[in-house]
Amino acid sequence: MRFLARLLSVVIPLTLLIGGAANARDWKAIQESGTIKAATEGAFQPFNYYEGSTLTGFEVELAEVIAKKLGLKLEWSVVPFDAQIAALKQDRFDFAIASHGFTEERAKSVDFANPHYCTGGQIAAHKGGPLTVSALNGKSVGVQLATTYAGAAQKIKGIKAIKTYKGDPEAFSALRAKKVDAWISDKFTVKGTLDKNPDAGIVGGELVFVEKVSMIMPKGNKELAEKLNHALAEVMKDGSYQALSQKYFKEDVSCRP
Ligand code: ARG
Repeated sequence: MRFLARLLSVVIPLTLLIGGAANARDWKAIQESGTIKAATEGAFQPFNYYEGSTLTGFEVELAEVIAKKLGLKLEWSVVPFDAQIAALKQDRFDFAIASHGFTEERAKSVDFANPHYCTGGQIAAHKGGPLTVSALNGKSVGVQLATTYAGAAQKIKGIKAIKTYKGDPEAFSALRAKKVDAWISDKFTVKGTLDKNPDAGIVGGELVFVEKVSMIMPKGNKELAEKLNHALAEVMKDGSYQALSQKYFKEDVSCRP
């Protein structure tokens, strides 16, 4: 199954290259089909990841309760993070839920739903290593490709090198093996990773920036955006969002004013 997920993550981008664009499904088409198609990455714990052969995580379970609210079945595609926006623009699925932070650049090509959590990018390093932005001067940092962490690293003055990795597990491994001096990722991903690897000698450091994370949809699919936003508001009202938030974070991660 893991193998299948990996295979799919290669096959999907390939079919994108060969397949060309389909048509974005409007709400009516989605509703008539009875199934909504979502993409995620599957390597970003605790948001979307594999537990054995099962795709799970806060975002995976959240999308499932949202689909249920909409009265639809949910069909998953597992797509590498850096390929998701291009794939969405080619209408390979109806939306992606993979911790996309809002950026003006992304908003030029996709629409963002209302945020489903608020978070921040955090530095992690070996004990005694560079744990603050200023300490990164002259140091190397590992980040996942195409993320807001990569963008944030580019803005830090004096960084010696930014190394990009396909996923955060690879970026963490690089830090562990001291191929980079620091790693920047989501604060909850850092916490989850460090909790699972207590012997790595790696600790969390300064928060670099904060962000609002949303599902992304093809541009201009207004009715779909309304339906997803409405369903998200509903699951926030009926307590199912809070239950998932407690399960994965032991706190409420929703964005509060
Ligand atoms: N929040 C970051 C961003 O917006 C990282 C998201 C990475 N998502 C993932 N599934 N690996 O770029």
